Amino acid sequence: MTLKVAVVEGDGIGREVIPVARRVLETIRPDIELFPVEVGYGKWARTGCACDADDIAALKSADSILFGAITTPPDPGYNSILLRIRKELDLYANVRPVQGEGFDILIIRENTEGLYSGIEWHEEDRACTVRVITVKGSRRIARFAAERALARGGHLTIGNKANVLKSDVLFREICIEEATGAGVRWDTAFIDALTLDVLMHPAEYDVIVTTNMFGDILSDAAGYLVGGLGLLPSANIGDRHALFEPVHGSAPDIAGTDRANPIAAVRSAAMLLDHAGDHDGAVCIETAIREVVARGVKTPDMGGRAGTRAFGDALVTALQTPHQQRP
Ligand code: NAI
Ligand code: MG
Repeated sequence: MTLKVAVVEGDGIGREVIPVARRVLETIRPDIELFPVEVGYGKWARTGCACDADDIAALKSADSILFGAITTPPDPGYNSILLRIRKELDLYANVRPVQGEGFDILIIRENTEGLYSGIEWHEEDRACTVRVITVKGSRRIARFAAERALARGGHLTIGNKANVLKSDVLFREICIEEATGAGVRWDTAFIDALTLDVLMHPAEYDVIVTTNMFGDILSDAAGYLVGGLGLLPSANIGDRHALFEPVHGSAPDIAGTDRANPIAAVRSAAMLLDHAGDHDGAVCIETAIREVVARGVKTPDMGGRAGTRAFGDALVTALQTPHQQRP
């Protein structure tokens, strides 16, 4: 059956990096059916609605979603669209691989609750956000992470702040139960010290599971290990839907200047193929990225002078050369 992929460019550099990822997919898998869905701040500014019920239905109709980035303005009347999509499609596991020389870390972040529960309000002299940790939410992310760790023959680190937060006592307890039940080796670590230690000793980590905001911060910080946000892909996975997106945002500071690094977006497309069972396709993409970078074709964030589009051209050419073609 044809794989149907919804493509959301979104705002800012999403409109520059996703076309590159899209060309890569078209090159390597001409059989995939790609269709655009427009959501985001740009659409809100134009139409007054950033994402309507039809958009959600279109996203739900796809086998997978390739997503760029959307701008969330500090406007109090504007709610994050990505948070809404993650909730509506129940994309509860945010998977962020961080790989480099001598380390291969998989950060698994709970994606639907925690401090991003969306339960918040303003009072006269304070503003409150409720950090919700449920048994169901914790159990399914713990199980997901334990399964991934087991499949890699690895180790699970449970990142938490149970020394301060009662809600994390619950999260940690459930993660320990699931890891023990799955027969996976595990340990626990406080998220603040863990973040520093991951940066100092990345080779000592394998799979890390944590709550929503801790995982958000940890995975951006881990970008330091690979040379920046422009290189980090991610997957948002649920039982029925899956969305793949670069870890970075819409980068308004460089948007429209052809300076964005498309590698994070292209790696997200590779994760999409891998999730669809096309492991060879994912490997071909990663090999082509490495080959192009080794030739010195790099965007400015990597110390090079190639533009987003030129990097994309080099990548597509590499994927078309005979030795790169899949068996
Ligand atoms: P950001 O990730 O957009 O940018 C942070 C810094 O990294 C900027 O200096 C940017 O130029 C640089 N950068 C990011 N991606 C890059 C790439 N591919 N190549 C080269 N440099 C890159 O985060 P920021 O500035 O905090 O947020 C900007 C907007 O994006 C905000 O409206 C925010 O809400 C939104 N955002 C959206 C996300 C999403 O859609 N998943 C995730 C994070 C932020
Ligand atoms: Mg983030």
